[in-house]
Amino acid sequence: MSLSTQISNLELDSCLMNASGPLCTTLEQLKNLQNSSSGCIVSKSATLEHRKGNPEPRYWDHDLGSINSMGLPNEGYQYYIDSAKSLTKPYIMSVNGLTLEDTLHIVAQVCQEPSISGMEINLSCPNLIGKGQLAYDLEKMDSYLEAVFHTINSQEDRNKNQIVGVKLPPYFDLHWYPQVTNILKKYPLHFITCVNSIGNGLLVDLENRTTRIRPKDGMGGIGGIYIKPIGLSNVRNFYLEFQKQNVPIQVIGCGGIQSGEDVLEYILCGAQAVQIGTQLYREGVEVFHRIEEEVKEWLQKNNLESIMLLQGKLNTI
Ligand code: DHB
Repeated sequence: MSLSTQISNLELDSCLMNASGPLCTTLEQLKNLQNSSSGCIVSKSATLEHRKGNPEPRYWDHDLGSINSMGLPNEGYQYYIDSAKSLTKPYIMSVNGLTLEDTLHIVAQVCQEPSISGMEINLSCPNLIGKGQLAYDLEKMDSYLEAVFHTINSQEDRNKNQIVGVKLPPYFDLHWYPQVTNILKKYPLHFITCVNSIGNGLLVDLENRTTRIRPKDGMGGIGGIYIKPIGLSNVRNFYLEFQKQNVPIQVIGCGGIQSGEDVLEYILCGAQAVQIGTQLYREGVEVFHRIEEEVKEWLQKNNLESIMLLQGKLNTI
């Protein structure tokens, strides 16, 4: 029973990986991911310099999902470049400069690294005070991607094997998918990751009459079960739109995965791989082994050798 997959030229032994965010900020955490059953390691989104992030409490979780307004706490991009030397699994660096200039500086360095397998450019952080999500402003996203790929292509010593993708926010109306696709297809992107958390939700502690988290009047990104139907629809809609327009970009699914069945649903919708965030934070890196076993058991029961036989095969009832 195989869970292996491929994102462009990058071969992964398992289609399960961590979502950027939980348990991928320190080298110790990255090494724990290295020693887990995940197919790939994704770093916390890196800025130019180290950041402490927003005031606490800034994360809260219950059965239905999580809310976070971490504010990009991370060690600064050089730390995540240096960490690559201790990791042997495929390693994707998430990049989220606070300005376009910062992003270009980081991207120019990362794309030259032989030990980094890819980059996930984050266009969807909802938690920066005073800043909107880039991927909801299509003109800005277009000029941002143009500058990013101009920078990558002008590095003479760049690692041409690296895959490059973007992390997108959820879209809630069908007219967005062809519009976003028309921008994405202009660039040599290998993948998109759908979806980041639903931005600026609010969870309330009724007993104490307070918000659950402190930053931004309690608003934060919602993850977990709450967002699985939105994650599935975003994967499905981009998958169908890319097929329709013959766009060779692959889709990584993310949002509310807790079980093997959740993974299988994302693959059916068209995902080439999946990421796990909220449930990883709850369960630790053992989540990858548990979910892998659940997927294998389902495949066995259904006489399927490989999970990828199901990819995109969802039927409308
Ligand atoms: C943070 C949250 C995100 O959803 C994201 O994409 C990047 C950073 C954060 O608050 O740290």
